[in-house]
Amino acid sequence: MSLEAEVLRLKEDRRAVLLAHNYQRGEVQDVADYVGDSLYLARKAMESDRPVIVFAGVRFMAETAKILNPTRTVLLPDLGAGCSLADSITADQLRAWKAEHPGAVVVAYINTSADVKAESDYICTSSNAERVVRSIPADREILFLPDMFLGDYLRRRTGRRLHLWAGDCHVHARLRPERLEVARAAHPGATVVAHPECGCTSEALPHVDRVLSTDGMLRFAESTHDREVLVATEIGILHRMRRINPSTAFVPIDDGAVCPFMKTIDLEDVRNSLRDQRYVIDVDPAVADRARAALARMVAA
Ligand code: 13P
Ligand code: SF4
Repeated sequence: MSLEAEVLRLKEDRRAVLLAHNYQRGEVQDVADYVGDSLYLARKAMESDRPVIVFAGVRFMAETAKILNPTRTVLLPDLGAGCSLADSITADQLRAWKAEHPGAVVVAYINTSADVKAESDYICTSSNAERVVRSIPADREILFLPDMFLGDYLRRRTGRRLHLWAGDCHVHARLRPERLEVARAAHPGATVVAHPECGCTSEALPHVDRVLSTDGMLRFAESTHDREVLVATEIGILHRMRRINPSTAFVPIDDGAVCPFMKTIDLEDVRNSLRDQRYVIDVDPAVADRARAALARMVAA
């Protein structure tokens, strides 16, 4: 039996739902029940009635699924699937930052540990960050963490004075304005779409046509008639963009933009995860209870 067939059979035997992020390997995306961005997958984890959730993504996504579904089993096929952005702030660092700004509202990007979420008032993703920030009364001071590029983009979009944590994603931070310039010169007239975590969304914003979450990019791919589109994000997204729309050329601004954490999981890991019920992700119930209220605001926004 092929690995794909084994995964499909085991999913039924174990009554599992398989969720895959847009940056996962193509072979993993192809056997998943749902493929999408962080917000979409968090919602799908809540909607599914299956007792087991296998998360082909990174650890903070599996932790989020567990916090939102405390009675269900959540599996991450490889414990090495971390996130450099989530690692850029700890709960102790956040507590110290909050102490410097008493009364400030804390908005955390979903790419954070469960402990950091538990110290936060709101959680957002790249698809609803602007909505979440706009929903906070204008007179409130806001601490935004941990991504400084997304934070800077939000400052420009909303005009709000956000205090920013100086964290970044090592994959997106390398997508600097200079790199975008080289790609634009090689592909004159191409449309540019960029993820808000990119290093180019601040200074090079005038040259970016659309700033989008990974699902936003896929919706754009579905509807565009442009001849060429430059894509500034992790290259795993290209698998579906090209499949959805074969008549547009989707060109990465940097084909070295590969997230090693997102690529640790392969089809064999997914098969093993389903077969051997591993690796179980648990979140301390007290931490989960504190994080859940902030996550509920995210899912609703
Ligand atoms: P999305 O929510 O846009 O999929 O982004 C998640 C992520 O980790 C981007 O690096
Ligand atoms: Fe984290 Fe960056 Fe990888 Fe996204 S691309 S999971 S932010 S390291």
